[in-house]
This record gives sequence, C-alpha cells and structure tokens, in this order.
Amino acid sequence: MLDSTLDGTAGHAPPDGGWHPASVARALVTSIGSVLRGHDDVVELVVAAVLAGGHVLIEDVPGSGKTTLARALARSLGGSFARIQGTSDLLPADVTGSAVWNPQRFAFDVVEGPLFANVVLVDELNRVSPRTQSGLLEAMDESAVTVDGRRCPLPDPFTLVATQNPQDQHGTYPLPEGQLDRFAVALTLGPLAPGYERIVVQEQLTGATVDRLLPVVDTAHLIAARDRVRTTHVADEVLDYALAIVQGTRADVRVAIGGSTRAALMLVRLSQSVAVLAGRDYVLPDDVKRAAVPCLAHRLVTTSGPGVRAADIVRDAVSRTSVPVRR
Ligand SMILES: Nc1ncnc2c1ncn2[C@@H]1O[C@H](COP(=O)(O)OP(=O)(O)OP(=O)(O)O)[C@@H](O)[C@H]1O
Ligand SMILES: [Mg+2]
Repeated sequence: MLDSTLDGTAGHAPPDGGWHPASVARALVTSIGSVLRGHDDVVELVVAAVLAGGHVLIEDVPGSGKTTLARALARSLGGSFARIQGTSDLLPADVTGSAVWNPQRFAFDVVEGPLFANVVLVDELNRVSPRTQSGLLEAMDESAVTVDGRRCPLPDPFTLVATQNPQDQHGTYPLPEGQLDRFAVALTLGPLAPGYERIVVQEQLTGATVDRLLPVVDTAHLIAARDRVRTTHVADEVLDYALAIVQGTRADVRVAIGGSTRAALMLVRLSQSVAVLAGRDYVLPDDVKRAAVPCLAHRLVTTSGPGVRAADIVRDAVSRTSVPVRR
C-alpha cells in the first residue's frame, strides 16, 4: 500500500511508552519507513540488525537512498550520532581519536574521535584506506578502540551503519573479508517502484523529510529491548537448522571461505529479532530463512567466476537444508 502521509516525521513513540522489544522494533520501522519510502523489507532487516546488536552495511548505486536510510535510523534511535565521510586520506586517529598533551595536568588527554557515538554513519566506507578500515575492526567487534595505547570503551549501544557503492571501483579499496564479517547484515535497496518515486519527489520538494524525524526510542529502552530479544526462544531443532545452513555454505564447491562461527551466532541473533518483529517470542525456521541471505551472502568468498552470486549460494544452502517440523 502506498502511503503518502508525513505523519511519521513527528516521531512515533512506542504506544505503551515502554521498552517491549516488539513495540521498540515497530516504532523504529514506522519512523524510518515514514522517510525511506518503498523499502519496508530492508527497513525491517536494518531494525532487526540493530536489535541483534549488529552493524549494518548498505550497498547500492548513487542516489538510491543509502545515506537517507542511515540518517533516518540514526535520528529515530536517539542517543549521540556522528558521521564520517569516507576518503582515502582519512587517518585511523581521525576516527578513533588521539592523545593530546595537557600542560595543566602534565599528562596526555584522550580527545575522542567520531567513533565515540551511539550511531556512527560511515558514508562510502570503501573510499577509506585499508589502514583506517582496519582501525574500525576493533570498534566493530569489541565496542572499544585503542587510543595512544589506552583502551577506551565506546558508548553502549554502538551501531555502525556503513554505505558503499559497489559499482564505482575508481579510487576505492574493497572491504577485506574480516571487515565484512563484522557486519550483521549487508543490504541492497534496489530500484524504487514508480509509485513510490512520485511520493518521494512530492514529499521532499520543500526539503528533506529526514531532517524532521525525532527519536522514537532512547538508549536505555533500546538496550533493554536488545537484551530482551536475546532471550527469544530458539528450539534445539531451529538452532541446528541455522547451523546447518551456515555449514552448507562452507561445503559448497563454489565457496573458498564460507560462513564463520561469528556468522552463525549473528544468524541466530538476527532470526530472534525477525521473530520479535513478527510478534513472536520464539524463532521459526522461516525467521532463519529470512535472515539467511542478508546475514551470510556478504561474508562468502567464492572460487568461481563473477557469474556466481553469493546470494544464490546462500539460497541453495537454505534449499538443501531440511526444515525441522514443529512438534
Ligand atoms: N526510497 C527513498 N525514499 C525517500 N527518499 C529517497 C529514496 N530514495 C532516494 N531518496 C532521496 O533521493 C536523494 C538521494 O538519496 P541519498 O543521498 O540517500 O542516496 P545515496 O544512495 O546515499 O547516494 P550516494 O551513493 O550518491 O551517496 C535524497 O534526497 C533522498 O531523500
Ligand atoms: Mg550517500
């Protein structure tokens, strides 16, 4: 259904004013969807990734709404927000921070870089040099950075949303496997249906709607919702099903590096979030199926030519894995 109203830009607080994960999730989906039109499925997966405590990579061609999605998420989440524009001359200290001599204290103070925020948007991540990209690894994996030999924890929650344009290879550095593995999901927006395009243009003639978004959840509620999502019931058979899919990607002859153990953990966490979004407190095999491609495809290293798409390999692994029957 096409919805041309702008009501979402006033902020959709959860109706119970609370932190129940389902209401937090729905509030976020409604808020982001009120700005980013026509991509409800992608918006739900982004929110699922945030509730799973993961980081998000959005890949698409220019002008497709990547930055808009990342900004809408950041504005809906509340907390602190920082933006890093990816360029090849960005140094690790530009993102993590640096130690500055304080003559009064006769000691070095840590000047925190933009990574010290609840939501960090790294726009055009693949324009960042490998050295600085590797500086992001510790932040993404351990929610901490090392500045001048001192380990500094990042705020909780810490969500990194990165964008990249996979078509434009000029002056870019492909993300290494280790970096890709740290993203809970990699999502593509795809072309916008003409009906939605009309709405987008009409809505934004007088200015960007994302600028009018207000937070719908504060950090304390988000942490509570995230912790609650992790208690969503996963039956043994469903857990085995998820693991078998990840193992299936490793067994595929077209794959050099399949899903990692980190990928398996994230697949199950993401399936829990997808279940919560569907209003359940237990995970079904369908939740795992929905999470599989966004969670796994970007992590695979294929051996065959460019004709083989990682998403198809994941889909094949899903279809080869027998679905557990409900008892
Ligand atoms: N699905 C959409 N819903 C709402 N606005 C959209 C959508 N797609 C594109 N836009 C609008 O198109 C413009 C460009 O979007 P945006 O800057 O997010 O693209 P991008 O993918 O980040 O592009 P680039 O790769 O060049 O940085 C913005 O004004 C944005 O609001
Ligand atoms: Mg952009």
